Amino acid sequence: MDIKTVCVVGAGIMGAGIAQLCAYHKYKVNLVDINNEILTNAKASIKKNLDRFFVSKKKISVEEASQILDKISLFTNRDDAIGDVDMVIEAVFEDMALKQKLFSDLDAKCDRGIILASNTSSLSISDIASKTNHQERIVGIHFFNPAPVMKLIELIKGKNTSDGVFLKAKQFSESLGKTVVSVNDSPGFVTTRLIYVMCNEAIKMFEDGLASKEDIDIAIKLAFNFPMGPLELSDLVGLDTYDHIGDYLSSELGNTYKPAAMLKKMVKKGTLGRKSKEGFYQY
Ligand SMILES: NC(=O)c1ccc[n+]([C@@H]2O[C@H](COP(=O)([O-])OP(=O)(O)OC[C@H]3O[C@@H](n4cnc5c(N)ncnc54)[C@H](O)[C@@H]3O)[C@@H](O)[C@H]2O)c1
Repeated sequence: MDIKTVCVVGAGIMGAGIAQLCAYHKYKVNLVDINNEILTNAKASIKKNLDRFFVSKKKISVEEASQILDKISLFTNRDDAIGDVDMVIEAVFEDMALKQKLFSDLDAKCDRGIILASNTSSLSISDIASKTNHQERIVGIHFFNPAPVMKLIELIKGKNTSDGVFLKAKQFSESLGKTVVSVNDSPGFVTTRLIYVMCNEAIKMFEDGLASKEDIDIAIKLAFNFPMGPLELSDLVGLDTYDHIGDYLSSELGNTYKPAAMLKKMVKKGTLGRKSKEGFYQY
């Protein structure tokens, strides 16, 4: 494995978590977003997470936490951030046009040997790659939230992803301590296709007045031994992300996947879950 430096594009919930995870596993990380405020907030949240979940639990020392943070450099200029990297992991909004444009730019600017990975949770990897000239180097590496903690990576092979790139992406994912499953390119892959339906259905039940939000969450947690209820989970993922996923899955797979009216209303109001401090619950 010759991956040493990774560029993570997008420093939101997932980008920050992926940057932390990679730095924890000794990769140098160039973290990119559109402005400095987002980047400094991301780095502050990484520091807070390291302190809270690793230093205070004596899993790492204060010095090790500071070495991990030192491995993460912040960039608002993407061209500067991709200069010396071996892999790019994209974690921008769940928007096909945005991702296609980004991958087309990255493909034009990154050396041929650099793997370009998307952390999309639902969009077709083959379609994301379709505007590039080197589709063989594009692969889906689907992390879960929170990326430093969750044990799974869902690896997605696009129509033209080469076997060599897929294998390298698998080795890289395993080097982060994750269990890897390989999934064919299809809307929502395995995980999102299922969890989105459950969460969207729970939102519809709440909307219909079937039970309180608390009781819906308690029912699903205790009935199925899930760590979180579907409404809590929707707040964690981000309601805007679920709305994008629902629009995409319903356009590809049919009306069963159409986002609940309440989900649309909450996104329009700007109540996006934890990231906006209010969703189904207050944070
Ligand atoms: N939230 C989850 O639980 C989860 C889990 C797995 C995968 N994902 C996927 O990860 C991706 C990111 O989701 P998120 O929850 O981190 O979203 P988010 O809204 O928290 O963050 C997205 C970030 O991308 C940045 N961005 C947008 N356009 C950009 C550009 N051109 N260049 C650089 N940065 C740009 C935004 O400023 C923002 O900070 C999505 O594709 C989503 O589907 C999300």
